[in-house]
Amino acid sequence: MSPEMQQIWKPDLYQDKHNFVWRNAQGLVELLAPQPGETVVDWGCGTGHLTHAIAASGANVLGIDADPTMINTAQQQFPHLRFRVDDACTFRLEAPVDAVFSNATLHWVPEADRAIACIRAALKPGGRFVAEFGGHGNVATILRAIHTARQQLGFRTSDATPWFFPTIGEYATRLERYGFEVQFATLRDRPTPLEGDNGLENWLRMFAGRFFADLTKAQQAECVAAAIAIARPVLHHNDQWFADYRRIRLVAINSPRP
Ligand code: BEZ
Repeated sequence: MSPEMQQIWKPDLYQDKHNFVWRNAQGLVELLAPQPGETVVDWGCGTGHLTHAIAASGANVLGIDADPTMINTAQQQFPHLRFRVDDACTFRLEAPVDAVFSNATLHWVPEADRAIACIRAALKPGGRFVAEFGGHGNVATILRAIHTARQQLGFRTSDATPWFFPTIGEYATRLERYGFEVQFATLRDRPTPLEGDNGLENWLRMFAGRFFADLTKAQQAECVAAAIAIARPVLHHNDQWFADYRRIRLVAINSPRP
C-alpha cells in the first residue's frame, strides 16, 4: 500500500480540507451548553477547535484524542488548554467530570460497549454525555461506489468497514444497558460539502485508504477514479461535491437512579 492511501491522521490536511468536521458542530456545543466552572472532557478532540469553543464558556476542558499528531497540533494551537493522548476504550480520569462531549469520533470505535463503559466511568452521577457521530446509512453512497468500483475492476470486495454506524435504537439500547438515560436523540441526513474539485478524492484519501490497501499504486488510482465516476451523479451538484453524511446527535445522562 502506498503511504498516501493509508489511514493516517494528517493534522494539516484535516484542518485545511476537512475543517467541516468541527465547523458543522457549533450547534453541538450549544446543546452541551457548558457552564463556567464545569469540568468537561472533549473526547476525540482532534486538533482542538471544539475544545477551544467549549473553554470559551468558562468551562474547564480536557481534550483527549488517540492520535499523538492531532494532540500535538491541538497543544501548539491552544497552549493554554489541556490535552492528552488516550485510548477511547481504556481511558480513565483522575476525577469524574460534569460532561463528556464527543464530535465525529464514536463511529471510529466499533467496540462501542467498551467506549460507553469508559464514558460512564468518567462522569459524575447526573453528568451528561453529548455526542454527534455517523448514524445508520452514513456515507452509504460513497461505500457503494467503492464496492462497485472494486467489482467492476475485478478486485475482491467485502462488506467489512472500519466504522460503526448504528441506528438510534441500537445505540440508545447500549447506553441504557450501561446506566444512561437517553433524553434526546435524532438521526438526520446532513449532506456535507467537500472542498474543491477534488473534494471526494481528498475525502477518500483522508478517510478511506484501507478500502484500497491491497492494491498497487496504479490500481489504487484506477479504483479511486472509478469510485468517483460512480458517485458523481449522486454526490456532485452545481460544481460541488458532497459526502452523504447522516448524523446521530444525542444527550444521555449518567442516571443516578438504580
Ligand atoms: C463521518 O464523519 O461521518 C465519517 C468520517 C470519516 C469516515 C467515515 C465517516
